[in-house]
Amino acid sequence: MTAPTVDVFDPRVFANGLPHRELAQLRDTGPVSWQDEHAVGDWPAGPGFWAVTRYADVKRVLQTPEVFSSWLGATQIRDPEPDDLGFIRRMILNMDAPEHLRLRRLVAAAFTRRRLEQSAEQITARARALLDAVAPKGSCDLPHDVTDDFPLANLAELIGVPSEDRALLLKWTNRVIGYQDPEHTDVTRDEAGRPLNPRSPAMLADMFGYARELAEHKRAHPAQDVLTALVQAEVDGQALDDAELQMFFFLLVIAGNDTVRSALPGGVLALLDHPDEYRRLRADRTLLPTAIEEMLRWHPPVLTFRRTAAADTVLGGQQIRRGDKVVVYHVSAHYDERVFDDPFRFDIARKPNEHLAFGQGPHLCLGAHFARLQLRIFFTEFLTRLPQVELDGRPTHLTSNFINGLTHLPLRWTPPDPNVASA
Ligand code: HEM
Repeated sequence: MTAPTVDVFDPRVFANGLPHRELAQLRDTGPVSWQDEHAVGDWPAGPGFWAVTRYADVKRVLQTPEVFSSWLGATQIRDPEPDDLGFIRRMILNMDAPEHLRLRRLVAAAFTRRRLEQSAEQITARARALLDAVAPKGSCDLPHDVTDDFPLANLAELIGVPSEDRALLLKWTNRVIGYQDPEHTDVTRDEAGRPLNPRSPAMLADMFGYARELAEHKRAHPAQDVLTALVQAEVDGQALDDAELQMFFFLLVIAGNDTVRSALPGGVLALLDHPDEYRRLRADRTLLPTAIEEMLRWHPPVLTFRRTAAADTVLGGQQIRRGDKVVVYHVSAHYDERVFDDPFRFDIARKPNEHLAFGQGPHLCLGAHFARLQLRIFFTEFLTRLPQVELDGRPTHLTSNFINGLTHLPLRWTPPDPNVASA
């Protein structure tokens, strides 16, 4: 096996921002290279994995599920407890064909463009209210004051979660995604003092109980939301069973929240780091659609995803053995000079821009349209309501090798003159 040259496993590496130098080194000298999965804090060491850093190899892994399985070891870098694996495999994200295809057809029916777009008006009103609340102050911490609430509220509305229960969604997301981060210390331990995996059945019992009750409520009181569509979904005489429904609810809460929550401040930071492009976008709003794609390339909300080799194979010249863990680095593929012209240039008009932020192949993100809708609305309102912002301190990154989160992004601007506004 190739000796590890650089550590792109340790979640703490990502707390200092993206490790571009290390990833470029891997793309050039070891595009499929072994990473030692050392212990991190209380979390025990794992067996190690292959880090896949070039665009073409990342794409191949994602497009070849028969060789690179989502089911064998699920899709997180950290191995699930053997006892939990059966449970975790009931989530669509952790399935292979033919089960995956069956479930995907069932849930895709709930994600019609019409259903997703029906909330555009409320999403706009929400973006305006959040931005208007901070505009007169002249400063804010963007995630805390604006962007953490926005996707959560949009998602809750899409799924059909009553607004008074939104805090629960945030608690569950933080527990699952933020567990590597020192700010989120909601770690539960077993009797021996070992931290419990936040994706284990024991840790998810309260969320599943909630999903079961809400699904029952939707059956009795159907509404225009995704959960109602899911309880009613039927393809070829088959419907989702209770366990599938609860598992899908869990996935939506995690997948649909933290990703957009990362993309929003990530996009703002990209603009602030490139004042010319920020100016260009303010002057020409027609560039917003390509600007959003460039933000997703520049700051991919999902850093990595895991697969497990189902057979011996060769990837990027490297022999991979059946059972090996293989981790694709979207964050590295997006800066691969073999595919992207001048990848370290942030270009809001970039075309083509075949980024992999929403994945590739059979598990391609089901919520991409809803995510883009939220980004388009947010940035339209952001450019209008806070016309010119500056950084007001150092951004803080989430300690995670999975989600490219920004936990603090202090901003300042010149508040509008209240006399002018009221004149
Ligand atoms: C910018 C925001 C988002 C990003 C970057 C993103 C990224 C991704 C990625 C990379 C995958 C593929 C995982 C894999 O390869 O195993 C995925 C799958 C998925 N996403 Fe998203 N996502 C976003 C927003 C959303 C939203 C808003 C929703 C729901 C409302 C959502 C629901 C899903 C679901 C259900 C899957 C699983 C699809 C399957 O396994 O067939 N995502 N997402």
